[in-house]
Order: sequence, then C-alpha cells, then structure tokens
Amino acid sequence: MEPPSASPHRGHVPWQGLLLAVLVSPLTFWNLPTTAQLAIESVPFTAAEGTDVLLLAHNVSENVKGYTWYKGERGIDSHQISIYLTATQGIIPGPAYSGRETVYPNGSLLFQKVTLEDTGFYTLQTISSDLQAEKASGHICVYRE
Ligand SMILES: *[C@@H]1O[C@H](CO)[C@@H](O)[C@H](O)[C@H]1NC(C)=O
Ligand SMILES: *[C@@H]1O[C@H](CO)[C@@H](O)[C@H](O)[C@H]1NC(C)=O
Repeated sequence: MEPPSASPHRGHVPWQGLLLAVLVSPLTFWNLPTTAQLAIESVPFTAAEGTDVLLLAHNVSENVKGYTWYKGERGIDSHQISIYLTATQGIIPGPAYSGRETVYPNGSLLFQKVTLEDTGFYTLQTISSDLQAEKASGHICVYRE
C-alpha cells in the first residue's frame, strides 16, 4: 500500500511539488535576498593622524573561508592589501600592504598609525566555502591634529 501523498489521483502535478521544486532550485536559491548584508564600519568614524583605526566587518557569513582587503572601492588586484585564509590563519600581503594593516580572524582590519594619505575607501571581499563572494566598502577619514 502506498502512502496517501505519493501519487496524485488526477493528471495534474500537485502545486506543492512545483513550489518545492522552485524553492530548492539552485538558481532560485542564488537569487534569494541574503538575510544579513556584509557591512564595514570605521571605528572611530574619523581618526587623528598617527592613531589606529579598526575597520569592523559586520554580518560576515559563518562559512567564510577567506578574506581579501583592498584599498579603494572596486577591489582591484593591484590594490590588494592582504588575503586572509581562515583554514590556515595565514596572511598573504598584497601590493598595497604598508606593514601597518592586520587582518583579524573575523575579517576586521586594524590599520595602525594612519596618515592623511590613508583617507579613502577600503573594500572587503569574502569568499565562502560554496564559493559565493560578497563585497562591502568602508571609509577611513584621517585629519591633521
Ligand atoms: C546586518 O544585516 C542586517 C540584515 O540585512 C541589517 O539590518 C543590519 O543593518 C546589518 N548590520 C550592519 C552593522 O550593517
Ligand atoms: C573582530 O576582532 C577584533 C579583534 O579581536 C575585535 O576588536 C572586533 O570587535 C571584532 N569584530 C567584530 C565585528 O566582532
């Protein structure tokens, strides 16, 4: 004897089946709005020359396997500050690394002894274990004391 839900008695496809197919389709899944948006916050909001600034990464997804920090808003390879791999906790410095930046395991970036030239946008890109990339930018504003 079959369970009652296994076979529809009429010739149509049950709508529940269609709904399930839509929900589990990888394409649809990809397009679902992410519940938590990656965001960067500069702490403090403006910093005196020579002080330290923390770029806090908020809403980092839990299965992140790597971070890349860039100077600027666009995430250009030649402006890479450093890559952080969560598996090894290894940091690979990039062309824009000045020796004053530290990436923490949670993706936040500590910028030490900021100069006026450090004013500008910084971009974090995260890669999750299912190879989904997310990007967000924050702004550092340095003033002369
Ligand atoms: C985290 O994501 C939620 C949902 O998108 C959003 O409302 C919240 O503002 C985000 N947090 C920050 C600090 O941006
Ligand atoms: C990330 O880690 C740093 C250093 O431990 C900490 O200061 C910061 O608050 C953390 N960021 C978040 C968003 O929790």
